Amino acid sequence: MKVIQITDTHFSPSKTHFNGNWAPLLDWLEAEKPDLIIHTGDLTVDGADKADDIAFCLDLMRQASAPMLIVPGNHDVGHLPGSHQPVNRERLDRWNGLVGADRFIHDIEGWRLIGFNSLLLGMGDATEEAQLDWLAEAMAEAGARRIALFTHKPLFVDEPHEGDTGYWSVRPAPRARLYDLMSRHDVGLVGSGHLHWAWAGEWNNTRFVWGPSAAFIIDTLEREMPGERLIGAVIHTFDAASVSSEIVAVPGMVAHVIDDVIDEVYPKPAVPDAGTSGEAAE
Ligand SMILES: [Fe+2]
Ligand SMILES: [Fe+2]
Repeated sequence: MKVIQITDTHFSPSKTHFNGNWAPLLDWLEAEKPDLIIHTGDLTVDGADKADDIAFCLDLMRQASAPMLIVPGNHDVGHLPGSHQPVNRERLDRWNGLVGADRFIHDIEGWRLIGFNSLLLGMGDATEEAQLDWLAEAMAEAGARRIALFTHKPLFVDEPHEGDTGYWSVRPAPRARLYDLMSRHDVGLVGSGHLHWAWAGEWNNTRFVWGPSAAFIIDTLEREMPGERLIGAVIHTFDAASVSSEIVAVPGMVAHVIDDVIDEVYPKPAVPDAGTSGEAAE
């Protein structure tokens, strides 16, 4: 079973900087003939406020022949409470209306693939609790299957038990609840996006893979992170009891550098907020 993970495509009908990467990515996807494509979020640049941006990106994604499951990113449904575009009911409803659910369960031989909305983690409300209940049930009902999780934000950046990384990863408190769930099940893989860095590592018998963005890398605008600056995708090959994940560059795709176009792609909000480092870039 060949599953290709793509992430952080950041296409847009008006900010067209990265749209040129879709044609080579689509060509490559068609040639690779995956059984399934999983998009781990940030389809858009401005989807958190503009339905047209989500619709535009969804139309592109539908050009792929293989079925595609999608979880949202912060550019699609908003981010942490107090940020410029916080996740809220309006934004989630916009996503649900255009794309569908923000989570999925997909069973294959030997495995249960579960996608969930990492932007709800840390909301501290009933929506977050409902998703955690759903996740607990989805994992408990996996039976003998191993579990692979897919979500936008990584659970950690440098260390599994590091402190709050702000915008970059899931915050320690909700992360502890995820770790608790994971410790009770056989989670072989966690695939994520968001960082625009490509990396793979292992902790507690779980493989963690950061998919490379299909749009841009970050040069010196933000701090160095583990892994490499790469534009591409991930090929996950699932066998009955194992998975191997290969991070690949995709021919013809351009490694745009966000530092060069940051002011065009992310104009400063009209009412400046507190300005958390990293808010603009990922
Ligand atoms: Fe993101
Ligand atoms: Fe992104």
